[in-house]
Amino acid sequence: MSNPREAELIHMFKGIRFTTRSSPELLNSLDNFDAREDDVLLVSYPKSGTHWLAGVITKLYNTQVTITSPIEFGDISKLEELNKLSSKRIIPTHLDYNMLPRNFKNKKCKMIYISRNPKDTAVSMYHYYRDNPNLPTVDTWTAFFDLFLKGDVVCGSWFDHFLSWEEHQNEKNILFLFYEDMKKDLPKIVKEISLFLDLNVSDNDIQNICKKSSFSEMKNDTEKENCDPNHTVCALTSNRKLIFRKGAVGDWKNHFTPKQNRRFEELFNEKMKLSKM
Ligand code: A3P
Repeated sequence: MSNPREAELIHMFKGIRFTTRSSPELLNSLDNFDAREDDVLLVSYPKSGTHWLAGVITKLYNTQVTITSPIEFGDISKLEELNKLSSKRIIPTHLDYNMLPRNFKNKKCKMIYISRNPKDTAVSMYHYYRDNPNLPTVDTWTAFFDLFLKGDVVCGSWFDHFLSWEEHQNEKNILFLFYEDMKKDLPKIVKEISLFLDLNVSDNDIQNICKKSSFSEMKNDTEKENCDPNHTVCALTSNRKLIFRKGAVGDWKNHFTPKQNRRFEELFNEKMKLSKM
């Protein structure tokens, strides 16, 4: 990105772009993090439905849980802050599997990975880049499309992220979810999440949770609430209003040219040739 603001906003860590809101000291010390066996990780590449899933999960618990900001977001004091929390922790992260603190893996913490059609993810991220002052400026969709394909965006390449997690898809402590499945049949997915988390939730409760987790309800809630800048599961903004844009499947068709679609498919087929997706 040849962008004058890039240096102020972005730094590279292990070949991946992070915003300067994730300090290099914190990223370097993640492996010292003391995971607890009952931690639940909510994992995603940005713009895959993280907030939606977080909304569902917090409603599923009727005991005290704390949904934290992403583990990679903040300065070195972050790990200490998380250590001090006495309630059960739901910890979001956009880290790829290789960068995840090893303690979460050793302790077999439950992890839920949400993924989304990368074409829609790219479009959602484009709008997010445009509206979010914490990210470098992008002038056009065409320019952003190239950056996305090269992985020159925050959190790196969608393909690398997805593949790093897909490799672990069959581990018992990891649940793989798709945004499109949540759109198609939310109650079914909420049931699946509740079983995975060993929560006893009635069908009636599931219906209520789904109602409260619709795009329009969640968007309205955000507009009503007094925005607490720290109350967001996204590492890239403190403004929750930027999160709820369209909430649709297939918006890529309004952005991709036929040529871009061909380029995307070529890269997808090449990168994902070993994927089971
Ligand atoms: P769009 O930009 O396509 O609208 P994340 O939370 O990972 O940043 O993902 C944000 C995307 O999820 C946005 O996509 C947002 O609109 C969508 N989203 C958030 N809440 C949703 C909901 N309740 N139902 C459907 N989509 C939702």
